[in-house]
Amino acid sequence: MAAVQPPWMATLQNPAKRLKPKARFNWVVSDWIRKILGWKYEWQAKLTGRGYYCGALHGESEYNITINSDRTVSCNCQDYDGAGHMGDLRKNTFEEIYFGPVAQKLRDELARGKMPIPTCTRCGDLKRLPARDAQPPAIRLPHRGMLLENTVRCNVDCTGCARETAAGLRVDQQLQMSLADMEQMAELMRQLGMKQIFYLNLGEPFLSPTIGQELPLLRRKNPDCRIVTSTNGVLLNTDAKREAALNFSHIFFSVHGVTDAMSEKYMHRGSFTKAYAAMQAMAEYRNARGLAQPILEWKYLLFNWNDHPQHIARAIEMARAAKLDFISFWPTNNPFYGISWRWQLGRLKHVGVASWKGREVDLRAEGQRGTATHPFLAAPAI
Ligand SMILES: C[S@@+](CC[C@H](N)C(=O)[O-])C[C@H]1O[C@@H](n2cnc3c(N)ncnc32)[C@H](O)[C@@H]1O
Ligand code: SF4
Ligand code: SF4
Repeated sequence: MAAVQPPWMATLQNPAKRLKPKARFNWVVSDWIRKILGWKYEWQAKLTGRGYYCGALHGESEYNITINSDRTVSCNCQDYDGAGHMGDLRKNTFEEIYFGPVAQKLRDELARGKMPIPTCTRCGDLKRLPARDAQPPAIRLPHRGMLLENTVRCNVDCTGCARETAAGLRVDQQLQMSLADMEQMAELMRQLGMKQIFYLNLGEPFLSPTIGQELPLLRRKNPDCRIVTSTNGVLLNTDAKREAALNFSHIFFSVHGVTDAMSEKYMHRGSFTKAYAAMQAMAEYRNARGLAQPILEWKYLLFNWNDHPQHIARAIEMARAAKLDFISFWPTNNPFYGISWRWQLGRLKHVGVASWKGREVDLRAEGQRGTATHPFLAAPAI
């Protein structure tokens, strides 16, 4: 059984900053950008007569519709302020919520060229209709992928993550999904025929005290599903948790630097040393069992304090030494003052190969290198 997490580990040490992440300067700027983009998109719709639709609300999306730890349902994975809440699975079925009035209002406003919530302006699922008077595609239930949040708590505090604001919105302060609820969610995923489950949202999945039971039950009900998580790695620190983690198809480790000091600049109260040890131990644990899954990937967000070619070369060398499958380098604008200018100026094109993430280095053995990491990705179902 997984070790129970002592509650103090989830308690961050700077309550003023922790409880109001959206008051941070980077978030104030980000909210202004959304406002300006909102005006721009609505004016473009007025001038061209072309409205919008939402890929997530038409069943096309792989990564947006989210079941939160309190079983509320959000249209997107950045729902820090609850604007994207569409319903509550304690009161309605998923189908009732998805085809219900709140979701329909979002669809209708988009079709009229309006931005129903500010998040739409920077959301990958916002699509422009191809022509004046064009109709959005038919609405079908999500099946390509959804997010499932087992917990909204976290052991660290990242500058660009307003997780604490979202945590304050969870109904009845349900910051952690119970095992009984998780069983129902696993069953819902099975009924929807979900091809991918992203077991993450606004929290640290391995902080859950019941992670050791959650993952086998999710896998039992969804044997062929591509189940993916993302973790800061620090708490993936026991054999019991590593055993549970074998149920994943793919694990991303969010580790942004090659020293404790570098990592601390974005992820406060994290630990590069512990995260690196966790990646290494997970690879060893998996390999000792002769398994090729979960795929283990170091996810390195690029900032202007960790993007020197020497840092990147060191990270690749360390990823190889830890026997990971991939290391990928992701540009980000959040926080805006951390933007990697080397990335922006095209100075990192020598790193691995270009991918939708940014750049990635495939470290797998000859023969596996370049191949799809999961059958769904080899031939994604329409
Ligand atoms: C909110 S986190 C939750 C999962 C886990 N706690 C983690 O950090 O990996 C979800 C995803 O957001 C990513 N993320 C965090 N800060 C980001 C930023 N400033 N820009 C882009 N992605 C970011 C993380 O790497 C992670 O994959
Ligand atoms: S934020 Fe807007 S575009 Fe994104 S999923 Fe929600 S309704 Fe769709
Ligand atoms: S580790 Fe993940 S959930 Fe925790 S603060 Fe960072 S991005 Fe947010």
